[in-house]
Amino acid sequence: MYTLKKHSTIALGYFFLIALLGVILRLFPIVNISSNYKFLVHTHSHVALLGWVYTALSTIIYKQYIQNTNVAKKYNRIFWFTQVTIIGMLVTFPFTGYAFFSIVFSTLFLISSYFFAWLIFKYTPVKLKQRNSYKLIRVALWYMIISSLGPWMLGIIMQTSGQESSLYKNAIYFYLHFQYNGWFIIAVLGIFIYILEQHSILFSKKVFNNFFWLLNNGVVATFFISILWMKPPFIINSLAVIGSIFQLIAFGLLLKLLLENKHKLSLVFCPFLGNILKLSGAIFLVKLILQLTVCIPFIADMVSYNVDFVIGYIHWVFLGVVSIPILTFLFHYQLAIKSKVLLAIYIFGFILTEILIFYKGIINWLQLNMINNYYHYLAIASGLLLMSIAGVFFIQFKKKNPTTSISSEY
Ligand code: HEM
Repeated sequence: MYTLKKHSTIALGYFFLIALLGVILRLFPIVNISSNYKFLVHTHSHVALLGWVYTALSTIIYKQYIQNTNVAKKYNRIFWFTQVTIIGMLVTFPFTGYAFFSIVFSTLFLISSYFFAWLIFKYTPVKLKQRNSYKLIRVALWYMIISSLGPWMLGIIMQTSGQESSLYKNAIYFYLHFQYNGWFIIAVLGIFIYILEQHSILFSKKVFNNFFWLLNNGVVATFFISILWMKPPFIINSLAVIGSIFQLIAFGLLLKLLLENKHKLSLVFCPFLGNILKLSGAIFLVKLILQLTVCIPFIADMVSYNVDFVIGYIHWVFLGVVSIPILTFLFHYQLAIKSKVLLAIYIFGFILTEILIFYKGIINWLQLNMINNYYHYLAIASGLLLMSIAGVFFIQFKKKNPTTSISSEY
């Protein structure tokens, strides 16, 4: 039997696998592992973005927008085809890196994601299309499609300018930027605002238009942050600053709405999930401030030479800004069984790994000596993350909880 709970469990399964791969990557400096590090990073990053985040987001979006229309069959076909492409990447990337079969599976994934976007655009009922949340989801799906121009361009760039060229790097940065700042973050906001709308917590038309405009112009302008490593003319830094400020103002508008509806909001989420969402908001605010800080040429320069700052920032966004709200929404919709202890361990492991990664970045920058056994501590902290994610995944099989049928409303 097909259930959305099954789909969300599959997403959590990918989350578990990428956490496992992440820990294996962090064991490389400590133990002798006879695998290709680069190939494992490719596997980890592809399955993280396309397996965990994509599958979880698309399951929730399906649930919110078209679960009650008669498209379960079409959705299932797209869903399972997508899974074949993800599993294809999972079994080819570790052994071949970027090679014929892994590229075929990645390309097929892109095509199936277009079909998913089409399904949402075509079958979302007119009434839902008028909602502000739908406008966010629609633009998020467009960012997903736009981001895919990056991978399509890679083939051409490889033939013309080569893998070492700036163009090649920028095509990857273009993809990553529109994936996580466009598709992931705007979709998370759209899902959140949908839940608020269900409880009559609404933006006025004028405020929403401002919020939407600031957010989206921010997404486009902050792409310039991704090319600051090339030391472009100062105008590019200025555009990136303007984009970052736009997003901070948009964040302020959302915060204002939430503060004005504090009491109603306490009825939407249980106190525990409410607190987790507040924490996500704080993590998002830190991301927006970091984004603004990195526009300063001296800092941009320092970051572009310091891989730890980049990895720390990327995981701040993926594990914090994106994954924590997604877990919260899965729990909220009972698409996953909630565990307070496991979520607490996850947050502890997340903060600990971030402190350690940024610590190494600072030590390298200041050319100081690192503490002994640094890599052991980082591996242990990452192990905590793995433990909590494994826990969340495996408890899905233990207890019986109400399954959410693919064609019935929660
Ligand atoms: C759960 C615990 C996780 C651990 C322990 C972990 C660990 C790592 C490690 C060690 C690397 C390689 C860094 C390098 O040498 O370049 C890496 C790269 C990466 N990770 Fe994770 N990761 C985790 C979760 C995630 C999640 C949830 C996502 C996204 C949803 C993610 C996305 C990425 C990406 C995109 C890269 C490639 C970065 C690059 O090539 O510059 N990771 N991760």
